Amino acid sequence: MKGIILAGGKGSRLYPLTEVVTKQLQPIYNKPMIYYPLSMLMLSGIKEVMIICNECDKPLFEKLLGDGSQFGISLEFKVQDAPNGLPEAFILGEEFIAEQDVCLLLGDNIFYGDFDIFRTAYQNQLAKENDLHARVFAYKVTDPERYGVVDFDPDSKRVVDLEEKPTHPKSPYAIPGFYFFDKTVSRRSKELRPSPRGELEIIDLMQSYLDDNSLAVEILGRGIAWLDTGTPESLCQASDFVAAVEQRQGFKIACLEEISYKMGLIDKSKMIENIENMPNCEYKDYLNSILKDEL
Ligand code: G1P
Repeated sequence: MKGIILAGGKGSRLYPLTEVVTKQLQPIYNKPMIYYPLSMLMLSGIKEVMIICNECDKPLFEKLLGDGSQFGISLEFKVQDAPNGLPEAFILGEEFIAEQDVCLLLGDNIFYGDFDIFRTAYQNQLAKENDLHARVFAYKVTDPERYGVVDFDPDSKRVVDLEEKPTHPKSPYAIPGFYFFDKTVSRRSKELRPSPRGELEIIDLMQSYLDDNSLAVEILGRGIAWLDTGTPESLCQASDFVAAVEQRQGFKIACLEEISYKMGLIDKSKMIENIENMPNCEYKDYLNSILKDEL
């Protein structure tokens, strides 16, 4: 399975923060935002990732993440000239996807909690469990009008409606920016027509799978935190959340070097090389303590 992180866009709601530094490179406590979605893909077991970004930001992402070899994965970058909607990721990434399954993560979506549901979704997607070829999640929120919204039949839990940012949401279940699609996704994306706001809509892509009775929607329970980072307030809250958990537990969230080492994507000598390339800092001390099995 391939992974795509969408890290373009203008980040208008974060202006002037985003005038020079793109949203997905803003700090979430002690790491750039992009670390968090990338960690999700790595934890799912995905080793080939494409990051889609604005042209001016490509050298910055490359400087930060290189070709991914320090994390034992392969990373490539693709420029999106204008934000034409999320499904454009599958058109720009068609060659990269190469007729495989693909997981799309929005670069500003942060998740925390028991990872089993995501790992199971990854495996079910590969297995096309119940003959379903796309998998998305539903998360109960107090402000569904800000998101894609899914409505279920109360008895069968079957999906009965999908809507993008409805004025009057039919349900409190938002669809987070973490999606699995099968190899038909690029073809389906090319068949979509822009919505009244002039963009290809991810909700229309999901609808195309739903029309084929091929869409799985899994409810994320209250044990999972899904954090928004689109406004100055939510950016601060996400930082505060990560800081509180990390300081209390002594573990780091989305520490890519730790994840790659513990998942066996890199060996000890590569981990030592990674650590040696870092300036003296608390992040380096943390990784050294992992090597010494102190945690
Ligand atoms: C996008 C999608 C929306 C989804 C949301 C998750 O909206 O269009 O369906 O619920 O991401 O973050 P955006 O935040 O780009 O407006």
